[in-house]
Amino acid sequence: MSTLKAVRGTRDLLPPETALWTRIEETARRVFARYNFGEIRTPVFEDTSLFARSVGEETDIVSKEMYTWEDRARAASEKAQSLTLRPENTAGVVRAYIEHKLGETGQLQKLFYIGPQFRRERPQKGRYRQFSQIGAEVIGPQSSGSESPLRDAEILEMLATLLDELGISGWTLHINSVGSSADRAHYNEVLRAALVDLAPKMCVDCQRRAVTNPLRVLDCKVPEDQPIIETLPKIVDSLDEESKQHLAAVTAALDAAGVPYTRNHRLVRGLDYYTRTTFEFTHGGLGAQNALLGGGRYDGLSEAIGGPKAPGIGFAMGEDRLVLTLQAQEAAQAEKIDAYIAPLGESLNPAALALARELRRAGLSVELGDGSFRLKKSFEAADKAARRIVILGEDELQSGILTVKDFATGTQTKVPRAELAEFLRKPGGE
Ligand code: HAM
Repeated sequence: MSTLKAVRGTRDLLPPETALWTRIEETARRVFARYNFGEIRTPVFEDTSLFARSVGEETDIVSKEMYTWEDRARAASEKAQSLTLRPENTAGVVRAYIEHKLGETGQLQKLFYIGPQFRRERPQKGRYRQFSQIGAEVIGPQSSGSESPLRDAEILEMLATLLDELGISGWTLHINSVGSSADRAHYNEVLRAALVDLAPKMCVDCQRRAVTNPLRVLDCKVPEDQPIIETLPKIVDSLDEESKQHLAAVTAALDAAGVPYTRNHRLVRGLDYYTRTTFEFTHGGLGAQNALLGGGRYDGLSEAIGGPKAPGIGFAMGEDRLVLTLQAQEAAQAEKIDAYIAPLGESLNPAALALARELRRAGLSVELGDGSFRLKKSFEAADKAARRIVILGEDELQSGILTVKDFATGTQTKVPRAELAEFLRKPGGE
């Protein structure tokens, strides 16, 4: 008798891991509610042409990763139809926006979704054929302000908050602009021309991409190709003035909100509908599949699939990758000691030793820094060894109120000395 197993690239999720999935989804729902998003649920399969016209015929997703079948007509009133399991959810949301005439409300639509997506990729850690996305889209007529750079910045600020509240630390936000669809097409041609001489010196994949889809060369991870890629023209030089100003306004708003980011000229993303802002949040702990989430603006998507002009922006997080990151972090947390004491200056060393003695005698595992360390060095040492850092400066010593930072959540708390041992005994990361 043959043994039946879950299909390659699909997985059963069992307790206790499912509790973590529930926790992630509940946190996301809570954060979405605070930012005034409502839930949308679209079908898991759609007409194949929806993805061809939105994600793009030439993309990897549409050209080789979709689960597509011919649905035979079952009655004279039905037509045979090519159907596809959704590889992503933005196309379905925009189709629903058009079908239900949501633009006619004149209001900005802020919609979120949580659900399975399907891509026939080569399975590996963090990459599955059925995976779950938590995503959101902000879309509306131009008069609703849907094109404003404030919408981009607000989404990115929300994502930084959501990751913090999930307890995911150590992420990096990469941001770029791919300009208008004309800018993007122009850049593709600039790259194609530049690659005529360079591609023969590159890996076989790049040689193929240089002809079929030059933008994808920028995604190449082969170490030997990197110096060549760095010499290629940058998309920023193909952007029109409006797109440049839009990006500048997004980054200025991020600066004002205190959301850290890095400009990444190579971030062009693998879906064709993007215009202007593109972004990804990566996490070092994930290995090769290091994108926790990705997204961007798609000001022409509604029109591309037959709808009215409706600029929009959105993102999708890989829920499977959030789970992997949290599991790795929690395992690392479990091995850490309770606290690291950082005296701010050598004169505070004796007081730090006294505090360490107090906490150790209360049964806590404690490492003691040195007042001659710069604060940055103390933070680095503490992050490796301990769940929390306790900062002991002159003010703290006088007031008896200590500053404690939790590395998993990034939160800083003022704790009276008498309550410190009890506070440090809590598992943290919450
Ligand atoms: P995407 O970059 O194709 O964008 O996917 C978003 C995220 O889904 C990725 O960063 C990754 O975390 C996760 N993901 C993708 N493929 C897999 C896989 N095979 N296994 C596990 N996780 C995966 C989109 O899907 C766009 N719809 C995002 C968007 C929304 N843009 C605008 N609005």
